[in-house]
Amino acid sequence: MSSAETPKTAKGVFIKTYGCQMNVYDSERMRDVLRPLGYAPVDSPENADLVVLNTCHIREKATEKVYSELGQLKRMKEGSGGKMTIAVAGCVAQAEGEEIMRRQPAVDLVLGPQAYHKLPEMIARASRAVGDRLETEFDTLEKFDALPKTREADGPTAFLSVQEGCDKFCTFCVVPYTRGAELSRPVDDITLEARALAAQGVREISLLGQNVNAFHGASPALTNETDWTLGQLVRHLAKIGGIERIRYTTSHPRDMDDDLIAAHGDTPQMQPFLHLPVQSGSDRILKAMNRGHTADEYREIIRKVRAAQPDIAMASDFIVGFPGESDEDFEATMQLVRDVNYAIAYSFKYSPRPGTPAAEMFGQVPEEVKDVRLQALQKLLREQQIAFNESKIGQTVPVLVTGRGRREGQAHGRSPWMQAVHFNGPENLTGEIVDVKITDASLNSLSGDLVRTREVAL
Ligand code: SAH
Ligand code: SF4
Ligand code: F3S
Repeated sequence: MSSAETPKTAKGVFIKTYGCQMNVYDSERMRDVLRPLGYAPVDSPENADLVVLNTCHIREKATEKVYSELGQLKRMKEGSGGKMTIAVAGCVAQAEGEEIMRRQPAVDLVLGPQAYHKLPEMIARASRAVGDRLETEFDTLEKFDALPKTREADGPTAFLSVQEGCDKFCTFCVVPYTRGAELSRPVDDITLEARALAAQGVREISLLGQNVNAFHGASPALTNETDWTLGQLVRHLAKIGGIERIRYTTSHPRDMDDDLIAAHGDTPQMQPFLHLPVQSGSDRILKAMNRGHTADEYREIIRKVRAAQPDIAMASDFIVGFPGESDEDFEATMQLVRDVNYAIAYSFKYSPRPGTPAAEMFGQVPEEVKDVRLQALQKLLREQQIAFNESKIGQTVPVLVTGRGRREGQAHGRSPWMQAVHFNGPENLTGEIVDVKITDASLNSLSGDLVRTREVAL
């Protein structure tokens, strides 16, 4: 955005983001919507005229954090003589908007994930103390249409939302209720946003959706074709000059079609990393979760993906202690982990969410049992993660440089397998893809030395 469009009366906005990458993306878009109103990002709530908590409702603890954070903001607001505007956005806002207003009267605005384009109007209403302060209507397309078409890129990697919502109704999950029905953006809109990002130096795009591989967006206006799949979209975006890397997250096993799997093998921009949550290795539990596939069907998908791209790093999510989970069920999860061998995975204790079917099921598992299972699972996953990272020692890997390191002569970047890489090398390489020889590995990162720059001579 040109400086001519930024009004002089600078106000500070502080957005705190919880939860998934959809929220990270939405926070960026809120900043875009607010910029023409004169709001510039500040790095602490004390200096802000507007504070937005972009919340997550997936687990109980996440929700409680929001209320305690709001308590602190209330005191800050009183200290500022009431000048601070407090807004709650995201999935807690969607799920319990009225409750938030009641529990914390210092909150000025509550807006669900489909209402961000209405933020300017709502701020105006709040300042005049008239009209509705709660916006939780569902209309995803309206949101996408109304958000500014341009975006300010923040470095060489960017998220791009292609799909929202979910129709899967896993019995433990609130997302279908907080994000609404599954809906895909038209390919032309996505392409426009991707081109604009590439023009600003973005080299790596992560296509986002709660169920990103369920994507079925309207085909380009000139084609007269039926809706496109994610595989088609990836191949299309790969043609944009400057876009060297494409990822997508999060996928559902049921929507992992053969064309998308093939794209891992035949589209060089497609990165060798797949986050495919499975949640459990027990067929009984998968059924009770309404996941719609068995453990062996999941193994078969991974076999096909590895046939297309042998170098792929696998990632997943797990829930332990789902209602009715026995020792045998948990052992089936451990066995699946041993069979697949993950590069990274996220694991959680089951937490009942009000309004979801699993919260009412018999056989809720005691906390102590969940704790023991989570520790055992995380130990195994940590061992696999370290082993995966260590397998890169001695290899020369292409690293997209994302910034300078803490010490002089150091930089950091991202490997094709989503690992953070720290390396010694000149500092002017941000946005380049360089070769780094890996010399060391830990649980969370790799380190190494620059071999040579691939594109621009120093
Ligand atoms: N759409 C993605 C997941 C979104 S939620 C998918 O289908 O895989 C992110 C993760 O949070 C889930 O994969 C699950 O592991 C975890 N999660 C969701 N609801 C939960 C609950 N009630 N208790 C514990 N973990 C949960
Ligand atoms: Fe939640 Fe299941 Fe939908 Fe993922 S697929 S968002 S876990 S309901
Ligand atoms: Fe949380 Fe909502 Fe994302 S519940 S995980 S922020 S979709």
